[in-house]
Amino acid sequence: MNLPSFFRTIQAKLIIIYVLLILIAMQLIGVYFVSAMKTSLTSNFSKDLNERAELISVLAAQNLGVSGESAEESLENLRVLVNNLFSINGAEIQVLDASGKVLTTSKPSHADYVGTKNTQTVVSRALQGIRDNEEYIIDDDNVRKKVVAKPVVSGGKIVGAIYIAASMTELYSTMERINNIFISGILLALGLTVVLCVILAHTITSPIKELTRRATAVAEGEFHQKMAVLGNDEIGQLSKAFNYMTSRLRDALAQNEEEKEKLASILTNMSDGVIATDETGRVILMNRRAGEMLQVEDGLALGTDIMSLLHLPPEEQGVLEQGAMHSTILENGGPDGNVYLIRVTFTPIHRREFGIIGTIAVLQDVTEQEKLEASRREFVANVSHELRTPLTTIKSYTEALEDGALQDPELGPRFTAVIQNQTERMIRLVTDLLHLSRLDSKEAQLRKQPTSVMEMLEEVADRFSFQMQEKEIKPTLFIASDVDTAWLDRDQIDQVLDNLISNAMKYTPEGGTIALEARKSEDGQLAVSVQDNGIGIPKKDLDRIFERFYRVDKARSRNMGGTGLGLSIAREIVKAHGGTISLQSEFGKGTKVTFTLPMEPQGGEAR
Ligand SMILES: Nc1ncnc2c1ncn2[C@@H]1O[C@H](COP(=O)(O)OP(=O)(O)OP(=O)(O)O)[C@@H](O)[C@H]1O
Ligand SMILES: [Mg+2]
Repeated sequence: MNLPSFFRTIQAKLIIIYVLLILIAMQLIGVYFVSAMKTSLTSNFSKDLNERAELISVLAAQNLGVSGESAEESLENLRVLVNNLFSINGAEIQVLDASGKVLTTSKPSHADYVGTKNTQTVVSRALQGIRDNEEYIIDDDNVRKKVVAKPVVSGGKIVGAIYIAASMTELYSTMERINNIFISGILLALGLTVVLCVILAHTITSPIKELTRRATAVAEGEFHQKMAVLGNDEIGQLSKAFNYMTSRLRDALAQNEEEKEKLASILTNMSDGVIATDETGRVILMNRRAGEMLQVEDGLALGTDIMSLLHLPPEEQGVLEQGAMHSTILENGGPDGNVYLIRVTFTPIHRREFGIIGTIAVLQDVTEQEKLEASRREFVANVSHELRTPLTTIKSYTEALEDGALQDPELGPRFTAVIQNQTERMIRLVTDLLHLSRLDSKEAQLRKQPTSVMEMLEEVADRFSFQMQEKEIKPTLFIASDVDTAWLDRDQIDQVLDNLISNAMKYTPEGGTIALEARKSEDGQLAVSVQDNGIGIPKKDLDRIFERFYRVDKARSRNMGGTGLGLSIAREIVKAHGGTISLQSEFGKGTKVTFTLPMEPQGGEAR
């Protein structure tokens, strides 16, 4: 532990504060106590000395100033008095005559003083009759002494003086002892304070240290941290608050995480593409779908400019700042050569104070929608065109009839026949359209029944046998042995077969062959095919052959009375049965159309 950092701890601060407090308190008490003690001891000491001097002076009065024979006796009395009765340990008592001469002294070592004069001021003052004479002196042995002198009065006359010099060594040593006791008391108290402080500070700082440790752990993401709450004091409350904070934080983060995951999964699984940019237009987020639509890897696109990513011209940059929604359609050719039509909607992200901080671009694949739209337009155009041709014919023929052709025995019936023919064609067209629309709206309920496949195909062949003979077309019929009955709507399937055979006949020159086949496919379905060796269909038209009104050679087909709806109706009927239809053809060699049907009733259908 290096010192400066230790002194910065609460523990050290507490210890220092307490030690200083104790020191100051003890010092104050000490100063008052010691000075009061000193005053009391010294005043007692002086009082005692004064009283003794007074007493001796009274006793000595009778023996001083005596002359003649009894003088020797008085002196002896004084010696006894001084040496025995009033021996004060360590103190020297001198009896002086009126001239200040030492008559006797209690200190044997000072015996030679006897007969000499004591010239101290206190003595001369006492001989002058002043009663209170005291003084502190330091004698030759370097000892502090207190000296007291009292006059001895006999018969109203000052006959001498009493001089007492008492050493104060004992008093000072007593004081020193008391001081020592005091200092050791202070030291002991300080020691105890330090020990108590260490313990006390530890009880305060250890929960704080623990709290710091746990708070750091929480900051690093360990939210299961819990503080033990030991009591309801400030630290207990802090621990409770910490626990509450941790649990709230954990909840909030979990919620946040959940929201984030939700958002991420929504973004990933969205059918629309989403791209987010910062305020400079750099991509900061892009979901998988957007990557698929733009044919870029989501990771690579991050940080690139959205305008170049979407192949938008720089002039369009304004859409990002406009602060309003803006849609634009992009044509984006993928590596597969397909053109995707993408509608992009830009929505700026606003944040208070900051204004626009980025843009969200939502990408919708509208290829399918546009295709549908186009086919709808084409359909309407086709229908109107198909209807207009016969109507124009009918109109011109009726006008001709009106203009007199009606009366013409030759032209009249011919023109009426044409009108009839065109009307029938229109009826056929409208019937086909109605049929298609019923199939589209699922209105046409299938009436499925077990049907003998052999019987059905033979009847179709019979129906066309006359026309075939006329065209010298040889039909063949093959039915596999494992095919017997199938579950189908006979009327509808008859229409499919009629159309396929009529197509085969229309597009097969005289002397060709038409083969009708029924077998069981690999997946257990009934597969019926109509094959001819006619003109075939060019490769480029194969993809669109099942589209409504689609005809390879429009003029020729129309001349043959075709509307171009036959194959699309066939496809709808087969689809309604739960089957599929396909067409293989080689231009100039022949065509084979195959459709499959489930043999057994489908789930949910009654037998
Ligand atoms: N067996 C085939 N051989 C050659 N071309 C065919 C054959 N079947 C169909 N086609 C081509 O496909 C086109 C569409 O056939 P579809 O049956 O839908 O119409 P359609 O026969 O012209 O008219 P509709 O069947 O309504 O009388 C035909 O116009 C023809 O060009
Ligand atoms: Mg047809």
